[in-house]
Amino acid sequence: MRFRNKFGMTPKIRMIIIIDFGSQTTHLIGRRLKEIGTHAKIVNPEKALDIIKKERPSGIVLSGGPSSVYEKGAPTIDPNIFNLGIPILGICYGLQLTAHLLGGRVISGSKEYGPVKLKIKNENAESILSGLEIIKNLPRKFLVWMSHGDEVIRLPKGFKTIGSSIGVPFAFVENKDKKIYGLQFHPEVEHTEFGLQILENFVSICGLKGGSKSNHESRIKNLELKIKEIVGEKDYVIGAVSGGVDSTVAAALTAKAIGKRFIPVFVDNGLMRKGTGKHVMKIFKKIGIKPIVVNAVREMLNKLRKVTDSEQKRKIIGNFYIEIFEREMKKLLVKKLPVKFLLQGTIYSDVIESQGTKHSAKIKSHHNVGGLPKKMKLKLLEPMRNFYKDEVRQVGRALGLPEEFINKQPFPGPGYAVRIRGEVTKERLQMEKKADEIVLSELDKAGILPNVFLSFPVMTNAYSTAVKGDGRQFGEVVALRIVESKDIMTSTWSRISYDILQKISSRIVNEIPGVSRVVYDITTKPPATMEWE
Ligand code: XMP
Repeated sequence: MRFRNKFGMTPKIRMIIIIDFGSQTTHLIGRRLKEIGTHAKIVNPEKALDIIKKERPSGIVLSGGPSSVYEKGAPTIDPNIFNLGIPILGICYGLQLTAHLLGGRVISGSKEYGPVKLKIKNENAESILSGLEIIKNLPRKFLVWMSHGDEVIRLPKGFKTIGSSIGVPFAFVENKDKKIYGLQFHPEVEHTEFGLQILENFVSICGLKGGSKSNHESRIKNLELKIKEIVGEKDYVIGAVSGGVDSTVAAALTAKAIGKRFIPVFVDNGLMRKGTGKHVMKIFKKIGIKPIVVNAVREMLNKLRKVTDSEQKRKIIGNFYIEIFEREMKKLLVKKLPVKFLLQGTIYSDVIESQGTKHSAKIKSHHNVGGLPKKMKLKLLEPMRNFYKDEVRQVGRALGLPEEFINKQPFPGPGYAVRIRGEVTKERLQMEKKADEIVLSELDKAGILPNVFLSFPVMTNAYSTAVKGDGRQFGEVVALRIVESKDIMTSTWSRISYDILQKISSRIVNEIPGVSRVVYDITTKPPATMEWE
């Protein structure tokens, strides 16, 4: 069916407009729509009505966000948007705002963060539930991911419930006549079952289907062209490389685009995993460029002395990196190489957590985004800035980078500094490194290391009593974090065997004198971030 809206004509542009209320996953909604084959555009709420009237999209998505609809100054939209006859899907804050503006009621209510069972109550809501196998099987429950503290307690007129969770009766609702849908959960995150199917159903309700899906070869070509366009014909780029997949893929793309005008720089700050330097040399041998290596171990530890706050650590590290790259730039300028750009392997999760959009909250200042100095001599080049981890890996594969580099665990730029709570002393750094080696070697021995997305111990700065060889010890508690994820936006803890956990725990407590206890972190993201700081 071709959908006609109240403008009395078919939509001008076959795309969906996403109104961004500041969710961590607004951009991810756009990514999912693109995966389905639909063009999507993200706009701020303030100008949304004007843009919608001008562009006449086929559908509208109202994103989630950190605010409460009943708060003074909370982002909102002109309610006339609901009268345009364009299908609307409200997600989390988007559902709450829909209810609030159309005569329902929202309060600070049940709080749900992470996985929750959703029960379908009205299997007759055909179009939005189309293809969901689960509705045929009693009790029609599936797992969805939530992240909210507010809840709709009264639906506006014309709305019906499709599904509820234990805490939230109006978790999935619709106004069939007006084609307005509301989800308290997030269909865009990888861990929500049938999330993509629900989005696909909404796309069909908008009269859109089966556009061209993005392909990696054309993405690589476009990225290369963009790098060439930004850098121009003569300028040089120095690149921060850490051996991680993000910076390696960004470097491989830049080398492809501008050849020898790209100079990789590896800064050894002493906070990286054992063998990182060798790994970097190996991969750049494959790419065909030799990186400059800067030894900054002593300087880095000096700068971190007596610093305990995680935001401050990140800022110190971000600023120090820029200081080093500007020093390297000067040396290259003396050699008459016009270095103007600094390549960073920044990806979208770094950006959004550092308060990347108008209405989003700051979760943490990633050292390469929010942790950078205000004034910089080098211009940033960040070709992967709009990509997610799994997309970066796909681009890496398409570039022909070997699997051993692509499948490497993510490692934060500030390294062990954000895995040691409190001050980073030489002794605690040694303990963290040793514990990390034990975790990796035990996962490897058990044959499960390649399947682990991220694993690490945390020096928690909490202390507890132990009895070692009949003597009392008051040592540090190590928290073990092992998580599963694809795109970093959500994660769940790995259900690895108790035997492996036991081996890791015994080895850490026995082999590291200052440690008294090991605990396993069983928190999902959301609410907990993957790292502890
Ligand atoms: P969180 O803890 O935010 O971690 O859930 C998501 C991913 O980001 C990495 N991470 C960082 N990476 N600079 C980085 O380059 C940072 O400041 C930073 N903080 C976290 C983290 O290791 C995980 O892969």
